[in-house]
Amino acid sequence: MKLSRVLLPLTLSIIAAVAFSAHSTSAQGAGVYTAAQASAGAAIYTAQCSQCHGVKLEGGAGPSLAGQLEAG
Ligand code: HEC
Repeated sequence: MKLSRVLLPLTLSIIAAVAFSAHSTSAQGAGVYTAAQASAGAAIYTAQCSQCHGVKLEGGAGPSLAGQLEAG
């Protein structure tokens, strides 16, 4: 089904919002995404991802999802 092609990027977008919020300063200002969207992403992350990637994205069974992007 094509639905998964929609849901995966959507899910990753939400998680990305959560990940960036953990590091966000006011560099980008407000309006990139809403606080409600961040909260929704945080809930999904906690429920579905944190057991492997850590509550604070620090990693565990899975790799850390926070920090610098790797080159290449
Ligand atoms: C059962 C454990 C587990 C769960 C649950 C899990 N992951 Fe992972 N994740 C992993 C492992 C292990 C890897 C490393 C896979 C590899 O390198 O081949 C990984 C890799 C990743 C990567 C790539 C990281 C990198 O630096 O290459 C991302 C992004 C990611 N996961 C996001 C998520 C998201 C978002 C969720 C929740 C929707 C999630 N994961 C849930 C175990 C998990």
